[in-house]
Amino acid sequence: MIKAITGTRDILPSDIPKWKYLENVVSNVFANFNYKEIRTPVFEETALFARGIGEATDIVSKEMYTFLDRSETSVTLKPEMTAGVVRAFIEHSLDKKLSINKLYYISPMFRQERPQAGRFRQFHQFGAEALGSNDPMLDAEMIIMAYDIFKQLGLKNLIVKINSLGVPESRENYKLILKKYLQNHFDQLTQESKKRFETNILRIFDSKEEQDQKIMENAPLLIEHLDNDSLEHFDKVKQALLASCIPFEVDPKLVRGLDYYSHTTFEVVSGSVGAQSSLCGGGRYNLLVKELGGGDVPGVGFAAGMERILLACENEKTLNLGEEKIDLYIVSLDKNLTYFAFQTAINMRRSGLSVETDYLARSVKAQMREANKLNAKYVLFIGGDEFLKGQVVLKNMTGSEQNNFAKDDLNKITDKIRGS
Ligand code: HAM
Repeated sequence: MIKAITGTRDILPSDIPKWKYLENVVSNVFANFNYKEIRTPVFEETALFARGIGEATDIVSKEMYTFLDRSETSVTLKPEMTAGVVRAFIEHSLDKKLSINKLYYISPMFRQERPQAGRFRQFHQFGAEALGSNDPMLDAEMIIMAYDIFKQLGLKNLIVKINSLGVPESRENYKLILKKYLQNHFDQLTQESKKRFETNILRIFDSKEEQDQKIMENAPLLIEHLDNDSLEHFDKVKQALLASCIPFEVDPKLVRGLDYYSHTTFEVVSGSVGAQSSLCGGGRYNLLVKELGGGDVPGVGFAAGMERILLACENEKTLNLGEEKIDLYIVSLDKNLTYFAFQTAINMRRSGLSVETDYLARSVKAQMREANKLNAKYVLFIGGDEFLKGQVVLKNMTGSEQNNFAKDDLNKITDKIRGS
């Protein structure tokens, strides 16, 4: 038997209400903040991600689904959205249409990571990108939107972590200071961190190995070496968060796994989902548009993992969506009337009700069982003595009320059901 590929999941009909609920909350919050939806292709030229996210990142160096298509072009399934959104922004000159483009997305992503709880190879993100302004208020806006979405979902066990990576000049200076410090401890670093020492030194802060963490505990911090403009930018972000009642902590070791960040970075972590606790991450990227061939356009954004969020909701028991219901089940009491039952179902569906009927020539008892399974609010009986008198019987499944209607008076039946 062929099974779904490791790290991918089917979202079955019984899970769909949770997903739709989440998508609804997300779209409403983004609409309130005036973000417009954008949809970009599932695959892009590999060079976009290599240049956008950074060759030395884990995503680009070991996690991308990259392959040659039939015309020998190297393409990659999108591991994240920011690079694709920026490509679309440049390609369609969106900056000519609006001075600030506020965009949001909900989409599957692909990363060939080691599957474990909360980490998938196909997963879903929602996120937002604001292109065209360096205003620290927009950095804060991203964090506020993420936080408001989590709060609307009822999540409690949250920590907002923020940091500033400053601008490249101060960061490069700082890297030399960090290098000097780590040179003295180089032999004690793990193999992976020794590699990162050469390729992506800041990421050593991300190491989960005790051996590395011990050394990094006393490492000099970037935030202590930021230039004045960066510190001012960061202060404004913090003030805006305080004014909007967002509890946060500054985590000077928050470096993030993508290369495009400058200034603010942030993550929201949950205490309810185990080791993969980051529900969302993001930050400012003022150089990315230029690096991908566009103008000097600053940007800021974030993305959130929807599987992890739903897991947090499940563990905190926040979503009580109730069972799915249908309006009406039509029971045919007589095999000769199945055609009439079918036509009645079609007409009532066309008038906007959710309606089901029997397609298996089942007994009345079996049809009633099916109506119960589907949580039908009403059952309409077609057949028997009533039908000979030109009538059908509508039964309310939550009480004992039963009413007769003329068999062709579908409007009255529909009104009765709608009125309930
Ligand atoms: P990221 O931190 O790579 O950032 O991913 C954002 C979120 O996606 C994570 O916090 C996590 O919830 C979820 N996520 C990532 N990988 C997986 C996985 N394998 N399985 C399940 N969930 C996962 C970005 O993607 C940036 N594009 C965010 C951004 C937007 N920065 C600026 N704009």
